[in-house]
Amino acid sequence: MTERVLTGITTTGTPHLGNYVGAIRPAIAASRESGVESFFFLADFHALIKCADPARIERSRIEIAASWIAAGLDPERVTFYRQSDIPETTELTWLLTCVTAKGQMNRAHAYKASVDANEAAGEEPDAGINMGLFSYPILMAADILLFNAHRVPVGRDQVQHIEMARDVAQRFNHVFGAGKELFVLPQAEIEETVATLPGLDGRKMSKSYDNTVPLFEGGPKALKDAIARIVTDSKLPGEAKEPEGAHLVTIHDAFADAATRAAFHADLRAGLAWGEAKQRVVDLIEAHVGPMREKYEHLMAHPEQIEEILLLGARKARAVATPFLNELRDAVGLRKMVAVAAPKAQAEQASKSALPVFKQYREADGQFYFKLTTADGGLLLQSQAFAEGREAGSWVKRFKQEGAQALSGAPVELASGVAKADVEAALSALVAAQS
Ligand code: TRP
Repeated sequence: MTERVLTGITTTGTPHLGNYVGAIRPAIAASRESGVESFFFLADFHALIKCADPARIERSRIEIAASWIAAGLDPERVTFYRQSDIPETTELTWLLTCVTAKGQMNRAHAYKASVDANEAAGEEPDAGINMGLFSYPILMAADILLFNAHRVPVGRDQVQHIEMARDVAQRFNHVFGAGKELFVLPQAEIEETVATLPGLDGRKMSKSYDNTVPLFEGGPKALKDAIARIVTDSKLPGEAKEPEGAHLVTIHDAFADAATRAAFHADLRAGLAWGEAKQRVVDLIEAHVGPMREKYEHLMAHPEQIEEILLLGARKARAVATPFLNELRDAVGLRKMVAVAAPKAQAEQASKSALPVFKQYREADGQFYFKLTTADGGLLLQSQAFAEGREAGSWVKRFKQEGAQALSGAPVELASGVAKADVEAALSALVAAQS
């Protein structure tokens, strides 16, 4: 069986070296494996949650798409598309919203973090929080479930969202599946082997820390300038330097083969100057990303080529999504009107199968009993004990003939929490079904 792997990239920023090493490179490598069908998309609806700057949204979409293609994504092999080109996503979001517990969304990390920050600042808990942020995990569940993805490679911070997607899928299957597993339950995949790349200051490379090394933007000069700003210790040229734990080295090693790594480490221990070491890192990374940058720049100059690739991706994605969403609409009851005008026999069949039932049985005490339950087993009436099975049997017979009229004075008790009117209705339905 081919495994479906799906991941989304929120389009608010410009790709940096950390995105490349942590997400782009491993995802593209995985998409080349056999037996894998990859769906990668620009999560531009998600971007709107935290960004109300149309120019930035526009630019980020182009930059991210160009980066992934330049880094080797094969649009023939991978289904590469924009979330906002798939209207089925928002439609499914609503279907899922209606089976999602609000309490569960209250516990979503991204929302909770904002509430905590508000409370710490003495604000109203929900100050400045939009419904997009609150419902973020449901939109993400729709992204995943619409394509029945098996595996979802994500960062650690996203694992809770995948768990929520599994929960909502399970609930939907249970409520609407009629025994069928409509949705595959997705699995989060955290690439343990992919180190998160440190940034200039040694913390995780992230736009929010302003410590990133650009991937393509700004050309070789921006790369060189950023590497020059990487913080090192103050050992002088000629002094032995410890490669373990130096983030310049971690960045180097993310682009080096084993032999190059070993040589770099040995040279640092032998006193290589940090300035020269940085130049080596620049050369190494440039050798790797330089050819990709050419492709990137070409695409940035020809956005219509990116557009075409993404529209092809949307067509492939919708070939899966449209029929599946039709099936889901049907499952929740959004059907063609003709279907309900259909045969009366079906309705009768349905009401018959929903009839209450009498059961006669003998207990360990040797006494005989009967009870009336709903079609799905809920207790309505419970009889007293009878010494003879015949006695129980004749009462059941009377109930079946007389219905609710037989109730008064009968040796039975209403089940707790059951209204007399409901029992009467159930008995009447039994009688009516026999006539
Ligand atoms: N929320 C993800 C992030 O910020 C991006 C995303 C949106 C996503 N939809 C997705 C990732 C579906 C995986 C699957 O990283």
